[in-house]
Amino acid sequence: MGPGEPYTCTPILPHFAAEVHGFSLAGKDPLPADVVARIKDDMKKYRVLVFKDQGRLSGERQVQISQQLGTIESTFYKHPKSPHPDIFRVSNDETEGCVGVGRTGWHIDGTFQTRPFKYQTMHFHSVCEGGETWFVPLKEFYEMQDEETRDRWDRYWMVTREGLAHPLVYRHPVREDTSMMFHCGPPFCAAWAVDDDAERSSERKVSGRMIAPHVVQDELTRRLDEAVDRIGIKMSWEEGDFAINDNLGNCSKLALWNQSLCLQGHAESQEESWTEDTSPDDHRWGRRPGQV
Ligand SMILES: [Fe+2]
Repeated sequence: MGPGEPYTCTPILPHFAAEVHGFSLAGKDPLPADVVARIKDDMKKYRVLVFKDQGRLSGERQVQISQQLGTIESTFYKHPKSPHPDIFRVSNDETEGCVGVGRTGWHIDGTFQTRPFKYQTMHFHSVCEGGETWFVPLKEFYEMQDEETRDRWDRYWMVTREGLAHPLVYRHPVREDTSMMFHCGPPFCAAWAVDDDAERSSERKVSGRMIAPHVVQDELTRRLDEAVDRIGIKMSWEEGDFAINDNLGNCSKLALWNQSLCLQGHAESQEESWTEDTSPDDHRWGRRPGQV
């Protein structure tokens, strides 16, 4: 650890995710400002950060940490055993937590919101065999596609059940690189809208053409299932793990065979800019979630 550094990161893959050992998030007082700044920096860089051996932090502590990362989003349904109204308790046992969550396919969370939240905390009080979460970083996923696919995806919008439209490809508000927004679970997507063919991409408008949900969801699923072994991680959680996930930079899905007991908190980043700046030559950069 360098002088003055609160903790050291050990990357899991050279380009993606890191573990932190020997640093406790426990306590009553808010995390010191330098620790919060460091976590935000590391989230920008690694996109998944796993603090190991945290024991069982209270729901209150998890919410306090989430509050230091941003504004709490609490949009989910409650489970009687949830330790705090802002904590989503997920399990493979319905007496312990909400079941079947996140198992309908590759997704980012909160696509039913105008602007899906940025930070997701996940604390594991208990784990089970096969209860993995699979993560794929979206910049690398986009960049590994051939040109035809990238050009096509650049024009798609995910139209949600709520009538929102999210650009499939857009600029990550903090990292300012390419990211993607979608949900491959059947109920979440109503259709895919498609931009027209204006030669200058900055002049493209959404055309009347719509694509059925499963066509693009199936394509994404097939390619993500292949990509996870090349650029992603199949995370086997350990009891006491406290992970922070960049919900805008990664997609995830749960392994199909089991689900560990996970306590989730969600927070929107405060400094998130969603800048209006549009590069005149690239329409993707001006696209924002929740609107066409
Ligand atoms: Fe999820």
